[in-house]
Amino acid sequence: SLALAMGERMRRAAHAMLFPFPCSGHINPTLKLAELLHSRGVHVTFVNTEHNHERLLRRRGGGGALRGREGFRFEAVPDGLRDDERAAPDSTVRLYLSLRRSCGAPLVEVARRVASGGGVPPVTCVVLSGLVSFALDVAEELGVPAFVLWGTSACGFACTLRLRQLRQRGYTPLKDESYLTNGYLDTPIDWIAGVPTVRLGDVSSFVRTLDPTSFALRVEEDEANSCARAQGLILNTFDDLESDVLDALRDEFPRVYTVGPLAADRANGGLSLWEEDAACMAWLDAQPAGSVLYVSFGSLTVMSPEELAELAWGLADTRRPFLWVIRPGLIAGAGAGDHDVVTNALPDGFVAETKGRCFIAEWCAQEEVLRHRAVGGFLTHSGWNSTTESICAGVPMICWPGFADQYINSRYVRDEWGIGLRLDEELRREQVAAHVEKLMGGGGGGGDRGKEMRRNAARWKAAAEAATAKGGSSYGGLDKLVEQLRLGQ
Ligand code: UDX
Repeated sequence: SLALAMGERMRRAAHAMLFPFPCSGHINPTLKLAELLHSRGVHVTFVNTEHNHERLLRRRGGGGALRGREGFRFEAVPDGLRDDERAAPDSTVRLYLSLRRSCGAPLVEVARRVASGGGVPPVTCVVLSGLVSFALDVAEELGVPAFVLWGTSACGFACTLRLRQLRQRGYTPLKDESYLTNGYLDTPIDWIAGVPTVRLGDVSSFVRTLDPTSFALRVEEDEANSCARAQGLILNTFDDLESDVLDALRDEFPRVYTVGPLAADRANGGLSLWEEDAACMAWLDAQPAGSVLYVSFGSLTVMSPEELAELAWGLADTRRPFLWVIRPGLIAGAGAGDHDVVTNALPDGFVAETKGRCFIAEWCAQEEVLRHRAVGGFLTHSGWNSTTESICAGVPMICWPGFADQYINSRYVRDEWGIGLRLDEELRREQVAAHVEKLMGGGGGGGDRGKEMRRNAARWKAAAEAATAKGGSSYGGLDKLVEQLRLGQ
């Protein structure tokens, strides 16, 4: 009868509870995955921290995105952090520890509560991002499988997995300060399966420590290795892009699902933690096709006022139009909403010098910006989300990596995919200007290199589209993942 049929449907329905580490680099891809799962009929409970939930509610239009809809709900759990800790320089470490301490029980409670009202099937799996491995215990307690969406490149993940060996073999921590500059970081590493020979310094930023008890190194190592406890590993990449390293990872992990590049579904609104500047889109509309350099370093990078000034003059010297995101907090020492600091940090004469061809935004709808016809290049910190979004838009890059997987990403961008250049660690205005010219210049000398990178970028964009279209590898990867979620194993 009808009741029986409905009961059967409920029994077989998959219900994923997703919990990302609460920063943009993790929230964005997790939300995109949630949208995809929902579009394939999976019930979704997306859990933010209360702090972010309230921050999103305060944003213009943020409340709308959080309202949820049939089969897609938002929930929140306390992150356990005190307000003074949020402002501390080591706030990310504190957040990491605090989540481990305080989020397990509330997550279990959310999972039990959402399904208790009837009409919603019980949670059948937990999907977590990297850095919240404690949620593997939540899944265990609920008696459901856990899947990790590790938010970096496959090459980034493969390298992070090998931090343990690097430590055991004595490559890291470094013996003393001189090892940072004496060429030691150029030591070739040729034994990471599926990864071409890379410089030690490119494997991961976490090898650059002198501290034998480095917390960051241990956390990265432990978090990556804990993925072995999950029933499946989900990666925001596609098979053609990283075939060798994916083959190697598939030898190590029985279930790897490649479902990327994940793209935002703007129809349902994103979960942007900052207000997106709409005026920059109108400014872009007025610029010639392919003429604008987009400059942004993601949600976590912090740069010194000196670096900012060097970059500013490099950009000014290009004579080209650029859209520059200076996020609250980007400049060391500047607090959120500290607008004067931004203005003061920009060198004297910079604003007058670049009038009409420089647009500074605090935050923008990055995927839309990258897809705008006026944008022809991206100066990026090589965070994995920024990198995949640039690939999807067919925009070549200038990389200035700073931490985590950003070095290995930029190594691939430049050498494996041929879609970018790389700046030295010490920012110099001449190199910034020269690289921009090489990337975006037309005809002659460096122009040929630029043309080649643009051609490669167009090719990778097409490959990304093919992978996510029906019949493509990532489309199939999602099919397999959904099937697995349905089986509840
Ligand atoms: C972090 C790590 O730093 C990175 O190395 C890792 O690969 C992922 O997690 P983050 O530094 O924030 O992320 O960089 P990134 O991965 O590029 O993510 C930034 C996100 O913010 C992107 O999705 C981007 O579209 C978005 N963004 C950025 C905006 O929406 N508007 C902006 O103005 C800038």
